[in-house]
Amino acid sequence: MTKAGRFVIMRWFAGVFVLGLSALAACGVGLSETAERSALEQGSIISDAAFQGLSVRLQQAIKEGGPAHVVEFCSLNALSIVDSLSTAHGAHIRRTSDRVRSPLDKPDIKEERMMQAMLAEWKAGSKATEIPARVVAYDDSIAYYRPIFISSPACLQCHGSPSETMDASTVDAIAERYPDDKAIGYALGDLRGMWSVRWAR
Ligand code: HEC
Repeated sequence: MTKAGRFVIMRWFAGVFVLGLSALAACGVGLSETAERSALEQGSIISDAAFQGLSVRLQQAIKEGGPAHVVEFCSLNALSIVDSLSTAHGAHIRRTSDRVRSPLDKPDIKEERMMQAMLAEWKAGSKATEIPARVVAYDDSIAYYRPIFISSPACLQCHGSPSETMDASTVDAIAERYPDDKAIGYALGDLRGMWSVRWAR
């Protein structure tokens, strides 16, 4: 096993112990070292493409009408952009978080467990670069999870502080479309959520 591979697995177990879960139950079906490496690579390619796809469209929309317009754009299009990328890559791609804006992005049980493990690492002081993407093999599928950080001040226009980094029209647009929004109050560098990509084995 490579050093990176051992590191990923150590991280994964650390997260599992934090949650007090049974390691066997949580790890699912084992993968060979080569299969794990290629799954990490495939997940990284797919989530890079999804991130690019979303960023380009987001920047276009901000240019056209500012952040409040983008909120409208995102609520109509973010899922469909990610869905069409899912089709293109033969994988199920989503973004999720422990504090979601869109109810459609709520984590399932496995995602919730992984999100909490990443949060525990992050709260324990790990830096962004120390929280790696990871793969879990299930009976019929492989799941790839990659943390998403508040990587740029631009994120704070829509996920920061209503009185400081967000303008009033954005705050209103978000309140109107996402009455249960939990995705504000972040600062630069915070762990915001994760990509969750899944494909058939
Ligand atoms: C112009 C406003 C805007 C900006 C800028 C923005 N977001 Fe969002 N974000 C949204 C909206 C609106 C949603 C809900 C999308 C939906 O309905 O599918 C969202 C959803 C998300 C989600 C999915 C989980 C959830 O809460 O529903 C993540 C993760 C996320 N944003 C991260 C980021 C990051 C990281 C940045 C900066 C690189 C960023 N966002 C910049 C408006 C924005």
